Amino acid sequence: MQFTLKIERWNPETEQGGLDEFTVEAPETATLLDVLDVVKDEVDGSVTYRKSCRMAVCGSCGMRIDGAAALACKTPMAPLAQEGRVPVISPMGNLPVIKDLVVDMDPFWAKFRAVKPWLEEDDQPPVKEWRVQQEELDRIMKEALCIQCGACVSECNSMQSDPEFLGPAALAKAAKFVGDVRDRDRKGRLELYNGPHGVWDCTRCYFCNERCPKGVDPRDAIAKIGAEIYSEGMLSDKAARHAQVFDVSTRATGYLLETALVPYTDPMKALDIKFAMQMARAGKVPNPLRPHRAKKLGEVRKLHKLLKTQEADARAQKRAGVSVDREEAGS
Ligand code: SF4
Ligand code: SF4
Ligand code: FES
Repeated sequence: MQFTLKIERWNPETEQGGLDEFTVEAPETATLLDVLDVVKDEVDGSVTYRKSCRMAVCGSCGMRIDGAAALACKTPMAPLAQEGRVPVISPMGNLPVIKDLVVDMDPFWAKFRAVKPWLEEDDQPPVKEWRVQQEELDRIMKEALCIQCGACVSECNSMQSDPEFLGPAALAKAAKFVGDVRDRDRKGRLELYNGPHGVWDCTRCYFCNERCPKGVDPRDAIAKIGAEIYSEGMLSDKAARHAQVFDVSTRATGYLLETALVPYTDPMKALDIKFAMQMARAGKVPNPLRPHRAKKLGEVRKLHKLLKTQEADARAQKRAGVSVDREEAGS
């Protein structure tokens, strides 16, 4: 089958770049990586990209296909060719380009190191070994699927505007350690991830979930950490206080009280008269004598109660699991 594609080139020695178009023959079952190999072997040996496992395991072949990050070895080319598309293959975003499709992963690994991706022990390590129960493992299994390909980082809007943001891949790894029953620094971790450039910098665009080739769902992992931070009462960040107003006001009235949202989240903003007038004109300031109250407030409260019970059960389960582990491991 004939495949045509355009490859974004960059030569660091000449500092020249541009788009080169190639047309090659490859089997109908060819992936993008197979087609790149044919281009390199038969047409232009200088085309540069990374690869290793060829089976979506090593995370080496991340690149953009028509602007969206994916693994070259997991992208079949026939559907694109059948649609008459000539895909543009370019390097991943949010990482410096070294040559052609190869990016510098150092900033990616620096973020990983910053979240302390190792187990912290205490002074009571198991005598023999840790035994993690299946249900405890299940809670962090999704995050454990990460192959560190960088596709999520490539598409992260927040990292584009703030390169210091820890980002989806590192925070997915962080969520794995927060949920790991063997770890002894849960509080310290939460303080770290609650800090500058931590979980609250995520804009919830969900692009990371969309692009992750392994179903890790990094945005969901970030939400899990946020929920843990919130349940510990760590409300130093505006976003955590923002979440608290949602929680308290929906429980009290069934609605979000926007008049409480601004003063509690950002007290300085509440002193901004112009902003207050804008809110009033937009109908966001309810009559204080007739506060909003949802007709089915009882239903909303039932939901709140259910969530709290589930949260408490999960915690109790976690505590029970840990003590069993210690006994078994020490026996
Ligand atoms: S959801 Fe958050 S972490 Fe994921 S890509 Fe968007 S801003 Fe980045
Ligand atoms: S979370 Fe997904 S997209 Fe991000 S590095 Fe891991 S496997 Fe790749
Ligand atoms: S070559 Fe290993 S993930 Fe693609």
